[in-house]
Amino acid sequence: MMLSRRRFLQTSTALLLLPKAAQAVGTDLVAQEAMQQIAPDGYPATHVWTYGGGVPGVEIRLPQGKRVNRTLVNNLPQPTAVHWHGIRIDNVMDGVPGLTQDAVGPGQSFEYDFAVPDAGTYWYHSHNRSVEQVARGLYGPLIVEEASPPDVGQDLTLMLDDWRLDPETAHIVDDFDNGHDLSHAGRLGNLVSVNGRFDPAHPVRSGERLRLRLINASNARVFDVALDGLTGWIVALDGMPLAEPLIVSDSFPLAPAQRADLFVDVTSASGEVASLVSVERDGGFGLVRFPISAGSATMGKQGIEPLPANSMPDVQIDAAPLHRMVMLGGAMRWLENARLGDTELTGRELAQLGRFWALNGYAERPEDPFLDARLGQTHRIEFVNETAFPHAMHLHGHHFRLVLPDGSLGPWRDTVLVERGQARQIVLVADNPGDWLLHCHMLGHAASGMMSWFRVT
Ligand code: C2O
Ligand code: CU
Repeated sequence: MMLSRRRFLQTSTALLLLPKAAQAVGTDLVAQEAMQQIAPDGYPATHVWTYGGGVPGVEIRLPQGKRVNRTLVNNLPQPTAVHWHGIRIDNVMDGVPGLTQDAVGPGQSFEYDFAVPDAGTYWYHSHNRSVEQVARGLYGPLIVEEASPPDVGQDLTLMLDDWRLDPETAHIVDDFDNGHDLSHAGRLGNLVSVNGRFDPAHPVRSGERLRLRLINASNARVFDVALDGLTGWIVALDGMPLAEPLIVSDSFPLAPAQRADLFVDVTSASGEVASLVSVERDGGFGLVRFPISAGSATMGKQGIEPLPANSMPDVQIDAAPLHRMVMLGGAMRWLENARLGDTELTGRELAQLGRFWALNGYAERPEDPFLDARLGQTHRIEFVNETAFPHAMHLHGHHFRLVLPDGSLGPWRDTVLVERGQARQIVLVADNPGDWLLHCHMLGHAASGMMSWFRVT
């Protein structure tokens, strides 16, 4: 992955000739290499892949109901494609090579043009060789504004990532296909960044209400998020408003690809430093610091009102057929066998091909869909995790509702964390026609077997 010196000089020149502002006003989304200071000061800069020259990529922000129109220009050395995660999108714009479009080769371009029906916090990322391309930085925020945005002092988008950097050179370690990672928890890093920086600070005022839009862009790390010096409520998950805001009393999980919108009141005094914290077994570490200065008061003048709901389908769960998706494989529960196409292979043979996981007996996206739904039908899916690892299961083109253990309907989501040994049910109204992926968003797991799809006709 090292650039030759000549290539590097060319890249730098290109960056100088093409200032960031010029790109932001245009409608191109340029996938390009760049250098960025990810590691703390004193370490070298890191060679990253970006949308528009920085990680995260340019923030695409627009009012609900409007259209995103961006031409992906691929200046990278690999084919790529952009997936608009969580958007209930037109199938042809979903950005999945081999299913909805061809990958866009180096030097080529592809025009994305689609409406955004739902307000909320979304993101976009590469969907070609994601295990490498997302790890190199190919992701950015996609923010859809409510018709009348809530009254907050600051609206901050915070994209969390987990990098594996060489501690000497700060280069991204390029062992993306490492069988140990693929067969265990996935690619876990050694440096966590927020908005492409290690340990950033955002000044706030005592008494201020913030909206924090958390997006987990990491390949595999499940963050356990907590607040320090702040009082917060979760107001939306995966872009979709909660009917009742949930107070953050402890920590909450944010799996790869998941989002959480928080309203946060700065309740500590000026002079103190509040923070967003990642809780770990041995204590935890700060993700973002919020140095507090004196007075403003957006908080307290109103209670916590739910965000306005998006217009979602009515869910009639009672007659909905149930489909089980059994998740098998990985370290400690190695596959005995599974299929690649028509061929049944042993776990050992599959491991040699870099396949460690299976969904309903297939160690790759099968030829036939897992579910073939009529437009408008409601289906239940039960994810049965018989592996020794958690998985973040994501459906394209739809949000679904969790079915809670007592049978009632939980929040709308597009990615559900299924803990090891757990079974979780979701209910889906198949109201968006097309061929849609269904996969684990631990990107190494997706690349090594946890990939399926469903069809809506
Ligand atoms: Cu966020 Cu199939 O992806
Ligand atoms: Cu997984």
